[in-house]
Amino acid sequence: MVARKTILQIMAMKERQEKITVLTAYDYPFAKLMDEAGIDMILVGDSVGSVVSGYENTLPVTLDEMIYHTRAVVRGSRQALIVTDMPFMSYQADIRDARLNAGRLIKEAGAQAIKLEGGEHMAATIRAIVDIDIPVVGHIGLTPQSVHRMGGFRVQGREEEQARKIIADAKAVEAAGAFAMVLEGIPRDLARQVTETVTIPTIGIGAGVDCDGQVLVIHDILGLCDKYSPKFVKRYADVSGIITEGIEAYIKDVKEQKFPTPKHSFK
Ligand code: KIV
Repeated sequence: MVARKTILQIMAMKERQEKITVLTAYDYPFAKLMDEAGIDMILVGDSVGSVVSGYENTLPVTLDEMIYHTRAVVRGSRQALIVTDMPFMSYQADIRDARLNAGRLIKEAGAQAIKLEGGEHMAATIRAIVDIDIPVVGHIGLTPQSVHRMGGFRVQGREEEQARKIIADAKAVEAAGAFAMVLEGIPRDLARQVTETVTIPTIGIGAGVDCDGQVLVIHDILGLCDKYSPKFVKRYADVSGIITEGIEAYIKDVKEQKFPTPKHSFK
C-alpha cells in the first residue's frame, strides 16, 4: 500500500529545497491522474465554483459542495496530501463554526488539512483550528473570497504599505500554527521576501519563481476553461480541442448511422 504524504514530509521539502508541486482537483478522475503522475499535494479549491460550476467567483460555493468534491478526490488518490478549501462564510463569522466546519472537512470528507484565506485578522481562527489537531494552510495576498474588498482580482502588495501588511500577514499565519501558506497574486520580490522570512513552505500562484512550491488550477493548465487566462498560467495541453473533436465525431457518427454498429449491440 502506498502511504499518503504527510504535512511533515511537505514541510521537510522546504528544508531540503525540493520544490513542492500542487494542483487543484475536484473529482475522482482528475485526482487519480495527477496522483498517479506523482503530484505532492492536491488542493480541492473553492475555485470549483468558477471552473466547474460556472459561477463568476468563489463566493457561492457551500461547505456541502466542498465535502462532496473532497470525497471524490480522496477516493481517487492514494499518495498525495489532500488539502481542501474552507468556502466563504464557513469560517469568517465565528471561531466555533470555523472549528466545526473544518472538522466536517476532515471527518466527513477525508481531507488531511484545510486551507483558509486571510492573514493577521484570521490568526486566532487558524490557531483555534490547529489547536484541535487539524492542519491548516494559510492563503494571503490576492485572496479571491475578498474580491469585493479588493475591487476585482488584482495583484496585491505593489505599494510599500500593502507589502508591509503582507509580510505581517505571513508572520501571523506562521505564528498561528499553519504548516504552509499560499501566496497568490503578489510581486515576485515580495514573495521571495516572505519565503525567506517564514520557516514554513510558501506555495505560489502568480507569485514568481522563488516560492517553495507552485499551485495552479488544473482546468487552466489543460486549457479546459477559457473564461479568463491570467498571465501567471502556463498551458500544458489543449484538452478542450480534443474533447470537442471527440464530441463532434460522435454527433456525426450517430447522424450518419455509423454508431452504434452490430459490434456495439447485444444479441
Ligand atoms: O481555490 C483555489 O483553487 C485556490 C488556489 C488558486 C490557490 O485557492
